[in-house]
Amino acid sequence: MTAQPAPGAEVVAGMAAYYARRAAEYESVYAKPERQADLRQMEADLAAPFAGRRVLEIACGTGWWTPHGARLASDWLATDLNPETMAIAQAKRLPACVRFAAADAYTLAEIAHEPLFDAAFAGCWWSHVPLQRLPAWLDLLHTKLAPGARVVFLDNSFVQTSSTPLTRTDEAGNTYQQRRLNDGSTHEVLKNFPTPEEAFALLGPRARRPQWQAHTHYWVLQYERA
Ligand SMILES: C[S@@+](CC[C@H](N)C(=O)[O-])C[C@H]1O[C@@H](n2cnc3c(N)ncnc32)[C@H](O)[C@@H]1O
Repeated sequence: MTAQPAPGAEVVAGMAAYYARRAAEYESVYAKPERQADLRQMEADLAAPFAGRRVLEIACGTGWWTPHGARLASDWLATDLNPETMAIAQAKRLPACVRFAAADAYTLAEIAHEPLFDAAFAGCWWSHVPLQRLPAWLDLLHTKLAPGARVVFLDNSFVQTSSTPLTRTDEAGNTYQQRRLNDGSTHEVLKNFPTPEEAFALLGPRARRPQWQAHTHYWVLQYERA
């Protein structure tokens, strides 16, 4: 019997390759003028939930959020699959508690099981996980977290005047964008824009006290691992 690929396997592999290729130009997305007020607010707010905690960051990319989140943490392990993005993060001036490790977010095989983390963070990651994989992915993340651990996801809201248009929806309800890089290549990228109700339903009993904060261009979801 041949092994069947996991749902969304091609999409997941394509997304990793896309971000490796985009690494050098990635942070231009944080220069959009209309997003600056949201960004400053979220950067300022990000440290408090992690104060004194051991934090696992998933898909840290170029480390835009890392210095803000890690400011008051006791330990912060920033992980990403791609060396191209992580090299940019590693070259930044960061709080002394920050360490890096290459890790595939879909296996987390590179992350030691003990001691468990008491917090987790992922920026602009939830939106790229195929809907049919999110429940299992949350379960996997939670295997690395102690009960009561604080979890924060932040991500983009869809704003007609600022977001890349959606080009199609698949049978599972995932939405897609066509994106162009500076080298002229075009890429179809899965990008979902959940409502708070959809996100809470996906979390289900895994999460205690889920909270959703809507900014204009972003949302922030926080909860405690049950
Ligand atoms: C939208 S970027 C987010 C980067 C950063 N967290 C931020 O908010 O600016 C998505 C990141 O996911 C990483 N990535 C893609 N596939 C991955 C995987 N399977 N495991 C871990 N990271 C992955 C990419 O390298 C990229 O850095």
